[in-house]
Amino acid sequence: MSIHIGSKPGKIAETVLLPGDPYRARWAAETFLDGAELVNEVRGMLGYTGMWRGHAVTIQGSGMGMPSLSIYANELIRDFGAKTLIRIGSCGGMQDRVKIRDVIVAMTASTLSTPSRGIFRELNFAPCADWQLLRAAVAAAEARGVPTHVGGIYSADVFYDERPDLNEQMTRHGILGVEMEAAELYNLAARHGVRALAVLTVSDHLITHEALSSEDREKSFGDMVEIALEAAFA
Ligand code: HPA
Repeated sequence: MSIHIGSKPGKIAETVLLPGDPYRARWAAETFLDGAELVNEVRGMLGYTGMWRGHAVTIQGSGMGMPSLSIYANELIRDFGAKTLIRIGSCGGMQDRVKIRDVIVAMTASTLSTPSRGIFRELNFAPCADWQLLRAAVAAAEARGVPTHVGGIYSADVFYDERPDLNEQMTRHGILGVEMEAAELYNLAARHGVRALAVLTVSDHLITHEALSSEDREKSFGDMVEIALEAAFA
């Protein structure tokens, strides 16, 4: 039992998928895992452990934003021994060539600030994905025929952004998309010597202003779960 995860050591797998939405965690566990068992419901942030092709996997909601994800990722790593953490989530597209429904696999994530800012202070630490996971996720996405982009993303602190000038500069510098969690996940993975990756579906677009329907969101979310699982055990 940690402060925010009401489970016992041994009930959480070394491989953890982290969707932001706890109901997505439940859907993914019930859809893709055998024998999925509820292992956390503190604050409604559902987590399940089950088996995928003979491997134990936990799917735990992270909540939205880096402060929330930081709580769950810290406790999963420090109190439950998680070794591979893969965020599966949505993002806003920031390049014309990145289309709605495409997958982005994040090599690195830029931020204005993260919960790790207090450690780094004046250092602009460049957090990065685990190379093996990244390579395997790209291969799995391409094998499914999902258009996939690999590169830098932006982890924002606010969804309702008030810095169009900054977004323009990021687009100009090749940032593929915006979400709100990956940078802190990569920071924590570096700090604790574990593997991390963010696999994201483009659910809305900052340039074209298109957005995925809820039906399409479910289908593309399912693709991401399978890409993440294949990458974790490649
Ligand atoms: N901004 C931040 N996070 C997001 C977005 C966005 O446009 N879309 C999906 N997650």
